[in-house]
Amino acid sequence: MSQNDTTSTLWGGRFSEATDAFVQRFTASVDFDKRLYRQDIRGSIAHAEMLCRVGVLSDAEKNAIQTGLKEIEAQIDKGEFPWSVELEDVHMNIESALTQKIGIAGKKLHTGRSRNDQVATDVRLYLRDEIDVIAKELTRLQEGIVGLAEREADTIMPGFTHLQTAQPVTFGHHLLAWYEMLNRDYSRLMDCRRRLNQCPLGSAALAGTTYPIDRDMTASQLGFYQPTRNSLDSVSDRDFAIEFCSFAAILLTHLSRASEELILWTSSQFNFINLPDRFCTGSSIMPQKKNPDVPELVRGKTGRVNGHLIALLTLMKSQPLAYNKDNQEDKEPLFDAVDTVRDCLRAFADMVPALEPKREVMREAAKRGFATATDLADYLVRRGTPFRDAHEIVGKAVGHGVKTGKDLSEMSLAELQQFGGSIEEDVFKVLTLEGSVAARNHIGGTAPEQVRKAIATARQELAER
Ligand code: ARG
Repeated sequence: MSQNDTTSTLWGGRFSEATDAFVQRFTASVDFDKRLYRQDIRGSIAHAEMLCRVGVLSDAEKNAIQTGLKEIEAQIDKGEFPWSVELEDVHMNIESALTQKIGIAGKKLHTGRSRNDQVATDVRLYLRDEIDVIAKELTRLQEGIVGLAEREADTIMPGFTHLQTAQPVTFGHHLLAWYEMLNRDYSRLMDCRRRLNQCPLGSAALAGTTYPIDRDMTASQLGFYQPTRNSLDSVSDRDFAIEFCSFAAILLTHLSRASEELILWTSSQFNFINLPDRFCTGSSIMPQKKNPDVPELVRGKTGRVNGHLIALLTLMKSQPLAYNKDNQEDKEPLFDAVDTVRDCLRAFADMVPALEPKREVMREAAKRGFATATDLADYLVRRGTPFRDAHEIVGKAVGHGVKTGKDLSEMSLAELQQFGGSIEEDVFKVLTLEGSVAARNHIGGTAPEQVRKAIATARQELAER
């Protein structure tokens, strides 16, 4: 830093030389925190209202402040606001513009507050707004999943463990597994919203303020259910942002799993699903390619959201009370997590209802992998064979099937009988795929009847949100 590489600042009093130009750029946050302008103005309008109520501002001053702030908001909306790095952050840019506009009254707005409680309020308001948008998008996705599950309640596909064919399941049931994951994500999101919905305004720099402020009033004006209870905690903790990122990381982990399945299922090896062209791209060199870019990108974006969670945890770790400038670093990870979640949910909510399952291919795949082997074992057990012996008998029958290229349901009764146990003609009922899924008819089971019940419950749940 050279001695001359400086520019003037607004700090006044305490300082005998201007901030170094690089330091100014290094410490400024306006380039990214200007995103908070609406919340910053909302907070200031409520603060001015309260200052007037308690007699710190006159009606005329309050009105000038509020009108001025609304004009500034309109100017920013139109992209005509001259943001300045010299003014460091969104708060000082707006306050300085207000003072330029209305004079002395503008300088009184900051009475009884600090940028520390101001920024803590802004970020909470911002996140609450975004959570409401995200909650809607998550609901739209869940509705899409339920709709598809209803259409596919009877569709049979192989269920997998270890990605090996295990037992037949209905595609509707598989989709409702996605629904359940997302349902827990939704409830995590609502928990996060409830905990962050308290108002830090009035905590001032760290210890509160000597003015006769009314914190209940600002809290309720801004839609918070109560003021925060400790000023030191209020200006310093960003656990609500960490909680949001943790919600985001788990959500994206769930979406990455669904993405992975879509990627597998749209491959020519599985061929279970057609993903409409509008969600895919081609290859610049291989003319036959149709790539599932949308699910691949969602899968990939999980990494950055996980990164943001770790970034915020690390940012907060070991910070002594109360506010530290470190916390300025909370914004970019949080903003990017919000954007990523919104985009990924939108992509999925658009894509899921458009999925085109290939029912015959799915059914054939279920048939190929001896998916009804457990049903045969259960049949033997019902007729008196101990389960371990039944397991052994069916294992031999499967070995025979592998050698002869036949599914269990394609063997003759005599073929099935040669490995032991008591098997009769009625065995073929349990060896059908339809019989196999219909038999798992209890809460949480894959039977179409249960899938339909689960869909009704889900619909009810979504309607009550
Ligand atoms: N830009 C700052 C932030 O994001 C605002 C609070 C600054 N407070 C302070 N005392 N320097 O955290």
